[in-house]
Amino acid sequence: GAEVVINGSLSPAVVDRSNESMKHTIQPASSTWRHNQTLSLRIRKQILKFLDAEKDISVLKGTLKPGDIIHYIFDRDSTMNVSQNLYELLPRTSPLKNKHFRTCAIVGNSGVLLNSGCGPEIDTHSFVIRCNLAPVQEYARDVGLKTDLVTMNPSVIQRAFEDLVNATWREKLLQRLHSLNGSILWIPAFMARGGKERVEWVNELILKHRVNVRTAYPSLRLLHAVRGYWLTNKVHIKRPTTGLLMYTLATRFCNQIYLYGFWPFPLDQNQNPVKYHYYDSLKYGYTSQASPHTMPLEFKALKSLHEQGALKLTVGQCD
Ligand code: CTP
Repeated sequence: GAEVVINGSLSPAVVDRSNESMKHTIQPASSTWRHNQTLSLRIRKQILKFLDAEKDISVLKGTLKPGDIIHYIFDRDSTMNVSQNLYELLPRTSPLKNKHFRTCAIVGNSGVLLNSGCGPEIDTHSFVIRCNLAPVQEYARDVGLKTDLVTMNPSVIQRAFEDLVNATWREKLLQRLHSLNGSILWIPAFMARGGKERVEWVNELILKHRVNVRTAYPSLRLLHAVRGYWLTNKVHIKRPTTGLLMYTLATRFCNQIYLYGFWPFPLDQNQNPVKYHYYDSLKYGYTSQASPHTMPLEFKALKSLHEQGALKLTVGQCD
């Protein structure tokens, strides 16, 4: 079959970041976008050569035991021991086993969602994926409430829950976890050593309070596999963002994929300022050399897929 062109039309011209959002105009009229089923299936097949979301979404109980030693992906010299708690929380079978959905929403955390009114539309999708425990209740009009899977980088515990310094913050996190109400909580626990204690705290909280979530801990090979897929398609990402990881996984079990809140630029299409996150005051950091992400590059790839009908990006208001 013909090759999927993800990054074909892009020139390596010098990027003027101040004006970058100008180059990413997305036609607002949703009537002009049509889902390309053939292409979506072709992408699913291609990605399956690198990873299988059903398997790689989480390490299963059978494959690890308490005391096993794991080398972190990004800190190869550091190791962690599989704790009793972590072991308890490993799923027995993949939470995505035999799952197929007609439409999925992946909700990124860009401030572009504010005043979008996209909440009701997001909630109509069969499966809704969110990132980093982003709050929903106070933003329901713009981001919706439905959550079937939510990711949690260990750093979120520091950034959004003050490293659980006191009972108030522990209670806040506990309430957020309780609100997940049976959804999948996806914790990349084996990526970087910084998160060791934080993952343990969360695991402990879940077990102690019998929180109703289905925990998943992505396998070590997932990140390499996802990066490999995109590199093969000439998208030279350093380390895939959570958002891109979720899209890559979703191709396996979603027929149509709708992206909201993906907009890694400080200005919107009308040149109005956009917050980095819709819910906090974190600033844009992706331009710095230190950042492991290459979000604008990822965005170009996603935009190209949007134009080809493989996914739909919404970066403005919902009708
Ligand atoms: N995102 C985006 N534009 C922004 C902010 C986020 O496109 N202004 C997308 C990215 O794909 C990101 C996802 O939304 O991965 C979730 O946002 P966030 O929680 O901010 O993720 P990151 O801080 O990038 O954390 P990670 O290192 O897990 O990717």
